[in-house]
Parts: sequence; C-alpha cells; structure tokens
Amino acid sequence: MDSNIHKKVLKRLLLGWLGFSLLIGGVVFFWEMEKVDDHVLALATQEAGTFTSETLGHFNRIDEAHPEVLQQIRATADEFLKDHFTVIELYNRDKKQFLEVVDPGMESLEKELKKYVHRFPLEDSVQYQKFYINSRIYMQVLLPLQDDGGHLAGYFEGVYEVDDATFRNIQHDVIRTLMLVVVVIFATSVMLYPIIISLNRGLVKLSGDLLKGNIELMEVLGSAIAKRDSDTNIHNYRVTIYAIRLAEAMGRSSAEVRGLISGAFLHDVGKIGISDNILLKPGRLSEEEFAVMRTHVLLGVDIIAKSNWLGNARDVVEFHHEKFDGSGYMRGLKGEEIPLNARIFAIVDVFDALTSRRPYKEPYSFDEAMTILRRDSGSHFDPAIMAHFETLAHDLHQLISHASDREVELALDHLLQKHFFSR
Ligand code: C2E
Ligand code: SIN
Ligand code: SIN
Ligand code: FE
Repeated sequence: MDSNIHKKVLKRLLLGWLGFSLLIGGVVFFWEMEKVDDHVLALATQEAGTFTSETLGHFNRIDEAHPEVLQQIRATADEFLKDHFTVIELYNRDKKQFLEVVDPGMESLEKELKKYVHRFPLEDSVQYQKFYINSRIYMQVLLPLQDDGGHLAGYFEGVYEVDDATFRNIQHDVIRTLMLVVVVIFATSVMLYPIIISLNRGLVKLSGDLLKGNIELMEVLGSAIAKRDSDTNIHNYRVTIYAIRLAEAMGRSSAEVRGLISGAFLHDVGKIGISDNILLKPGRLSEEEFAVMRTHVLLGVDIIAKSNWLGNARDVVEFHHEKFDGSGYMRGLKGEEIPLNARIFAIVDVFDALTSRRPYKEPYSFDEAMTILRRDSGSHFDPAIMAHFETLAHDLHQLISHASDREVELALDHLLQKHFFSR
C-alpha cells in the first residue's frame, strides 16, 4: 500500500512537471521570441537610420535624375552591405523604387530570400518581418523616411542579417530562460513530494485508526451479548473464524467476507432484548418462549440499523435462521432467496452451537455434530455450501478446539487484518 502511494504521487508529479514545463515553457518561449523581435528590429532600425541619415539629403533630387547622385547613393548602399544588410531597396515619396542593391556574397542565398521577402504595402509606419534561413535570423524592415521639415521623403526597405555572435547570445538567453523554467518547476515538484507523502501518511493512519475503532466497537457489541449466555465471548470469535474460513474456501472476495465478519460478530446481538428466564433457561423452551426467542432476529436488525458502517452485517443478522427448504424464520425464505452470507453463516452457527455447551444442552462430539449437519443438508442448509464445509470442518475444528482463548483471538486478529486492512 505504501509503495503504491509513492508510485502514484511520483507519477502525478512527473506528469505535472512535464505538463507545466511544456505550458509555461511555451509561454516563456513566445515572450522570448517577441523580445528577440524587438531586439533585432532595434538593431536593424538603428543601422538603417545611419544609412538614411547619410543619404536622405539626396532624396529630393532623385526625380531630377542626376546619375551621379544615384551613383553616390549606390556607393553608400554598397558600403552598408558589408555590415548587416544583405538587401537594400529605396523608394521615393511616390512609392517608386529607384534603387535595389544585393550583397554580392549572398547570391546563393537570394533564391531562399525571395521565398520569404515580400513586398510590404508602403505605409507611413515601421513594418517588419522576421524569418530564418539556414538557422540564421533575418529581419526585413520597412521604414518611412522623413526630411528635416518632417515631410515624407521616401521609404527604406532592407533585409537585415543577425550576425553569429548576436544570434548565439539570443540562443543562449532563450535556452537559459527555458532551463530555468524547467528547473524551477522540477524543484517545486521535489519540494511537494515529501509534503504530499506525509499528508497522505497522516490520512492513511487516521482512516486506519477509524477502521480499527469501528471493528473494536463491533467486537464490543458482539461480546456484550455473548457475555450474557456464557461467561466468555470466545464462541463469537470461533464462529467468526469458521465463517471466514468457509467463505475463503468458496473463493468469496474480501468485500463480501467483511460483511460476513460483521454479521458473525453481531448475528445474535438481538438476544440483548431477550429476558434471562428465556435466554438462560436450562431446559427446552415452550412454544411461547421460542416465539419470543425468534424475535432476537428482528431486535438485532433494529440495533444495527443505527449504524451505516454495519449495514453489510444485515444479511447475516436478519436471515441466519432461515432454512434452505423455506421452513426457517423470520421470513421463510427458500434456497437462493436467502442471501449467500446468511446461508454460509447458518452452517457454522449451528456447528458451533452443537459442539459447544449451552445453558440448555451439553456439547456434541465433532462426529455427532457432523452427522446432524449432513442429515439437515438440503433441508436446513445449502448442500453446495455444506460440500465446502466438509472439506475443512475436521481440521479447523481440531485446530480451534485445541487452541487457547488467546490463540483463537490471535488467529481472528490475523484474519481481520487480512480482510479489512490489506487493500
Ligand atoms: P444457539 O444456542 O446459538 O443455537 C443456534 C442454532 O443452532 C439453533 O437455532 C439451532 O438451529 C442450532 N442448534 C442449537 N442446538 C441444537 C441442537 O441440540 N440440535 C440441533 N439440531 N440444532 C441445534 P434455533 O433453534 O433457532 O435457536 C435459536 C436460539 O434459541 C439458540 O441459539 C438458543 O439461544 C435458543 N434456544 C433454542 N433452543 C433452546 C432450548 O431448548 N432451550 C433454551 N434455553 N434456549 C434455546
Ligand atoms: C450474495 O452473493 O451475497 C447473495 C447472492 C445469493 O443470494 O445467492
Ligand atoms: C436436538 O435437537 O437436541 C437433537 C439433536 C438433533 O437435532 O438430532
Ligand atoms: Fe441466532
């Protein structure tokens, strides 16, 4: 049970770690990319600004088509291609292109570049587009240019290539931030682990204590009545052990066995309401006395109805005196109408009553008891369950009749542990 919860918590935390890393990592990566955009745009704009401030003075004269002016601008542009720009295009204020220079070292790249570079609609605001070729960052920018008077003078369009050192810095920044996210989330998970485990340990202990308390109260209640018609509650313990072992031999699940155990402890709890002159009568009961005695079944159902936890004992308490042929009480149920736990319990109840001393009878020997049970198989008892009982009755009776009270208690404790606490 303990290693199970460790596995469960570990699995949950691991999944949570992966999930949060992906989610928060994704958000952080998106933010970082926006930061990269801003950073590269600033670099590109700055360099473009230097270029245009050097050439802006000539823009007005472009229309006049002085070849030497154009020549001069082209020369400046070619200079700039040695830095970061790989393409520079210039437009006049009428949005007519009058210059396009391409870095001569970039011819092989040009085809790729053409796929990404697109014509911006010429607007009076900065526009940009980032793209990657061969894992390098390129930023295409479009800047409207203003002359000294603040009037639109033309447009600068360029493709800016981020250099290796800057690219590596950006890459490192992004990777470092993502690693930090993953590590911080991992550290949080690691810190949560012992907290969850210790909280769970507290809960497991608490629910174990509660279960133990419930079982103890069930035993106390069962013992209270056992003490009245004999001076020990060992009969109750014995009959419970018989019932568990018979149910186990039939392959019943622990959930079903738990109901049988509660039922076995409490089957005669209704005898609390039967007066001593009947309950402890040394001889045979009269018909009226036996009619009163039979009500112990209904009194028992009333008593356990107060407890939700004891609800699964009801089949045994209510139906342990039904008989397979329908001649039992209180309802006269027949065959499989009688709940299985009650049919199982009827056999071990009578077996224990026969082999024990009662105020009204001496104990029978094992063989005499079995003879009576076999005779009543099919009438009183379910013959299929009797067949199971035959296989274990002798050895079990040997064991229990020779065991001390203490040993019987220990054996029962062991069985309770198995069916209530080993989930
Ligand atoms: P119990 O003493 O625990 O007996 C439980 C059941 O064992 C009885 O249910 C009966 O089916 C079976 N049983 C007990 N002794 C004998 C026996 O000598 N022969 C056979 N064939 N079966 C036996 P039952 O008869 O419904 O009795 C329910 C409870 O009523 C008994 O519980 C006992 O407390 C009381 N009782 C039954 N008969 C007498 C009696 O003659 N005198 C007194 N004082 N009480 C009796
Ligand atoms: C049960 O499985 O507990 C009862 C079914 C039956 O009455 O045979
Ligand atoms: C009795 O009921 O005490 C006699 C035993 C038997 O049922 O054969
Ligand atoms: Fe009874």
